[in-house]
Amino acid sequence: FRVRHKMRWWALLLLVSATTTLAFRFPTREEKLAAWEKLDTVKDFSDGVPPGYKLVLVNPLWRHGDRGPTEAFPGDKVTEDEWDFGGGGYGELSPIGMRQHYELGNKLYERYAANGDFLSTRYRAKEVYAKATDRNRTLISAMSNFAGMYSRAATAINGTDYPEIDAWPTSFVPIPIHTAKYMDHEGDPDSHCARQDDLWALAQQLPEYIAFDTKTRTQQTLQYLRDKTGSDANGINFDNIYILRQGMLCESIHFNDSYADWYPWYTDDVKQRVDEIDDQNVDFQNGIFASGMIQGYDLTIELPKIRGGAVINDIVDTANGVLDCYEFNNNLGGNTRCTESDHFLRNLKYYVISAHDSTIAAYLTTLEAKPYVLTSGGYPSYSAAVITEFFIDVDHGNERKFRLLFHDDEFSDFRVITPMVAGCDISEPFCDIKHIQALADKYAPEGGIDTLCDQRLDGPAVDTTKAPPPPASTASPSPSPTTTTKKTDDNVPTTVTTPSTTTSPSSLLTCVSAAAVVLIANLFF
Ligand SMILES: *[C@@H]1O[C@H](CO)[C@@H](O)[C@H](O)[C@H]1NC(C)=O
Ligand SMILES: *[C@@H]1O[C@H](CO)[C@@H](O)[C@H](O)[C@H]1NC(C)=O
Ligand SMILES: *[C@@H]1O[C@H](CO)[C@@H](O)[C@H](O)[C@H]1NC(C)=O
Repeated sequence: FRVRHKMRWWALLLLVSATTTLAFRFPTREEKLAAWEKLDTVKDFSDGVPPGYKLVLVNPLWRHGDRGPTEAFPGDKVTEDEWDFGGGGYGELSPIGMRQHYELGNKLYERYAANGDFLSTRYRAKEVYAKATDRNRTLISAMSNFAGMYSRAATAINGTDYPEIDAWPTSFVPIPIHTAKYMDHEGDPDSHCARQDDLWALAQQLPEYIAFDTKTRTQQTLQYLRDKTGSDANGINFDNIYILRQGMLCESIHFNDSYADWYPWYTDDVKQRVDEIDDQNVDFQNGIFASGMIQGYDLTIELPKIRGGAVINDIVDTANGVLDCYEFNNNLGGNTRCTESDHFLRNLKYYVISAHDSTIAAYLTTLEAKPYVLTSGGYPSYSAAVITEFFIDVDHGNERKFRLLFHDDEFSDFRVITPMVAGCDISEPFCDIKHIQALADKYAPEGGIDTLCDQRLDGPAVDTTKAPPPPASTASPSPSPTTTTKKTDDNVPTTVTTPSTTTSPSSLLTCVSAAAVVLIANLFF
């Protein structure tokens, strides 16, 4: 008896110490968040940069500024004609949005160009390339942003950078913004994609999705909104509540005088519930599930691949090309991948993508960083930006590094978020490029995004209508919308569904175990 007793003690002791060791070695979500808090804002790109690190390429990926709603919501008091700014009509950039981007352009100029250490103080066509999704608001956001960067009386040259006439807007230097239909998948995760629709239909069958949709708080809130707006389950449900949410936000900003009188029932508490419901839906769309396995598909991989695979690969491929050319230009090594014909890559320093909240979320998801950066879930604010900086360490074998920054909104500076990227060291602002390359490979759409989108799911036919949720406790009849409307806060709504990506348990695990290795290494060496 005594022996058995003793053995139990030993077993218990072992268990406790193993648990403590594990807990100690694996950074938790809280630890990652705390690490973020400690990383100071860096205003000048050279802040905290070790000697030998040369900044080679900067990639700002931003969301457009403040805009009007993209469509009416049930009970809407404002008609499309009343949205007059940005050219008029639904979904256009407002003067507030123009200002937000003008100010972001100013901040970017201060960081990268003010002293001419990285970008020239004047617009140089070879250094800068900007593209936008084919939407008026992302195009005009980019124009406003560049006005904040380069339309400066102190540096722009009259008669060279703009015409020598009185009537010309003072010191305005026009900058080209490229766009094309092909930008759709790279820049807009909600572009039509048959495979994404199939995957979203599967996502709607996941227990986690159904549980959130059918829980009392969700259904009570949805029913309350239907009652107040005279709508039904097709008009307002878990998948389309974003329409009401975005409309309310726009009207609280642009019709603030009447807003409270029009919608007295949209109290702070109701608004908070709506935000919570919609944020959760956004995360599901992005593939953020505790377990995304269904019918042999892992939605935590499949959805991010479609939504963010193209954009992360565009960024990483461009960076690799520019880094190769930097080595070539500076005779740093035997790299032959840069040739005379690579004029574009040989001179490029600033590669802009003007896009949407959904694009930023998709990119952060493929970096497996979204839950740590957008901590309450959902999408980022107007003029939010992720900035990826690529460096080469000329003192240490031309090792390639990157640093990731986040611009939360118009009131923020740039925060270092590199440690949130899967594989990167929790305490280091820089990370080896191999980690972002690994993520680009992991989420690469095989054969290109168009090919992947044409690949419908095999197996049993997917039910494209949402399964009617079990009756919720005290709540109203359950909605069974027939189409899955995809929400795209930024995009012109389509009937396409967009599931989204997220950090899956497996990706979290990879991230956690990578961090653990680093921690263990730090402990022992
Ligand atoms: C943008 O402008 C075009 C015309 O140039 C217009 O047809 C379209 O509705 C506008 N809105 C958006 C969101 O692109
Ligand atoms: C540029 O030069 C022209 C001609 O001298 C002048 O009329 C115009 O005001 C100048 N513009 C600025 C911004 O100085
Ligand atoms: C609307 O006005 C109220 C008070 O008049 C103010 O507290 C609130 O911040 C305003 N909302 C916006 C979005 O400007």
